[in-house]
Amino acid sequence: MAEKLIYVLNGPNLNRLGKREPEVYGSQTLADIGAMLAARGADLSCTISMHQSNHEGDLVDWLHEAEDRGAHAVLLNAGALTHTSIALLDAIRSIKVPVIEVHLSNPHTRESFRHVSWVGQAAKGTIAGFGARSYLLALEAAAAL
Ligand code: DQA
Repeated sequence: MAEKLIYVLNGPNLNRLGKREPEVYGSQTLADIGAMLAARGADLSCTISMHQSNHEGDLVDWLHEAEDRGAHAVLLNAGALTHTSIALLDAIRSIKVPVIEVHLSNPHTRESFRHVSWVGQAAKGTIAGFGARSYLLALEAAAAL
C-alpha cells in the first residue's frame, strides 16, 4: 500500500505540553505524542510530518504546504487560534486536503470563549476531549479517509 502523508500541525503553547496545566492537558509532551503517532502511523502506512508554532502565519503556510506536497490529510490542533483565527478558517478553505480538528481537552466543557471554533467551520470533523489519545483517534480517522 502506498504511504499516506499526514501533516500534524500544532499551534500556540502546545510546545509546553507536559508542563502546561497538566490537570487539563495531561503529562505527555508533544514529543511523546509525535512518537505515538509515528508508531501508529507505521501500522497504518502513514508517514507523519509534525510541526508546532506559536505564530499563526506558520500554520497557514504549513496548511498550504500540505496541499502542495500531496498530503492525504491534516490533523490540526490550533490551540487558542481555534477560537480566533479567520486566517486559519480561510487557509483550510483554500486547500482540498481534509483537515481534522483535534483538541486534548473538550473546549465545550470549558470557558464560553472556547465554544466557538473557526477551524471547526471548515474541518472534515473534530476529535476532542481524549487527551493525547485524541491525536491517535484522529490519525485513525485520517488514514481511513
Ligand atoms: C486546546 C484547547 C484550546 O482551547 C486551548 O487554547 C489550547 C489547547 C486543546 O488541545 O485542548 O491551547 O486546543
